Amino acid sequence: MKNVLRERKTLHLEKLDPIDRRELPEEAAAAVLCRAEEIAVTLAESPAAHRTLDHPELIRLVDTHAAALPGAVRTALRPPDTAAGATIIGRLPVDDGDLGPTPRDWRHAADPACPASFRLDIAMLLLARCAGEPFGWQGQQSGRLVNNILPTPGHEDEQSGASSTILLSPHTEDAFHPERAHLLLLGCLRNPDRVGTTVSSIRQAELDSDTRRRLAEPVLPILPDVSYGEDFSAHRPAPVPTVAPGAAGPTLRYDPAYTPLDDADPEYRCAYGHLGSELERTCHRAVLEPGELLLMDNDVVVHGRVPFTPRYDGTDRWLKRVNIRLARRRAPEEARESGYGQVTVRPFPAAGEEISNRPVNRGMQ
Ligand SMILES: [Fe+2]
Repeated sequence: MKNVLRERKTLHLEKLDPIDRRELPEEAAAAVLCRAEEIAVTLAESPAAHRTLDHPELIRLVDTHAAALPGAVRTALRPPDTAAGATIIGRLPVDDGDLGPTPRDWRHAADPACPASFRLDIAMLLLARCAGEPFGWQGQQSGRLVNNILPTPGHEDEQSGASSTILLSPHTEDAFHPERAHLLLLGCLRNPDRVGTTVSSIRQAELDSDTRRRLAEPVLPILPDVSYGEDFSAHRPAPVPTVAPGAAGPTLRYDPAYTPLDDADPEYRCAYGHLGSELERTCHRAVLEPGELLLMDNDVVVHGRVPFTPRYDGTDRWLKRVNIRLARRRAPEEARESGYGQVTVRPFPAAGEEISNRPVNRGMQ
């Protein structure tokens, strides 16, 4: 089955209550950057650590230094706890002059010749480690634990983080996979045109009981996005529920750009359309400033990005992204899904695990 890409209508962004904001105190932010610098200096002679960020020594250092960070960092990075399902955390003191030009491709941002980018990768890992277990995907950006999100020539109109000129449809990150992140952390390095990240929470959407009932049925699969490749015909698509009840409120698994909605009956399509309208109605637009972080609960919110015109002159929008696992269980049925052959990279011990008790890379559980 091929990926299903649809033209999306432009979102009409309505101003709602702002997303929760938290402060990362100046001293705590300085401690993150200081320890990131220390780790970067220790690993300066190890180019392999730069490329993948799952080098055992790097993991050990991040674990050690994250544990020694001020408690204020952990407080700021706790999971979002409002109905909005997301929080903006400010901020890391990012020096634009120190960054160098925005690369045109994630590979260049991951190059050892880009030391400022590497230091910020480490800072993102330290922050993510204070929230939970950072992880990556073998099939995405070569398994790197920190992804670079920047506009890339030739990818302007695809549904991925490398796009620019089209609306990036609201989606659950890696919705196709049972091991998708619980939390998603975005860090803004540069955003000169004030491009908005969109965030919509299922806990602010109003759905009647019939709509919830239909959307709780596993009717349609969600396919991997284009950043993982294009041919997943070897894997049987697994229908999944879109909305599910949860202990703290409903949860959401949603990626309309990669969902073959035409295969569903009219009633289901109507329910799915109503959900889309509600996510549009409740959409927040987060315009991140350099150094600001956006922490999202990936079971509660969908995120996207408004269209923008790429500059390709070294000053483009540049974000970093980290996937984070928590000790949170999802529906047991998800364990039977194939994940379309995509495998996680999990070098950090999960909560309660000793680092020496596990292999460096671990796939789906
Ligand atoms: Fe995304």
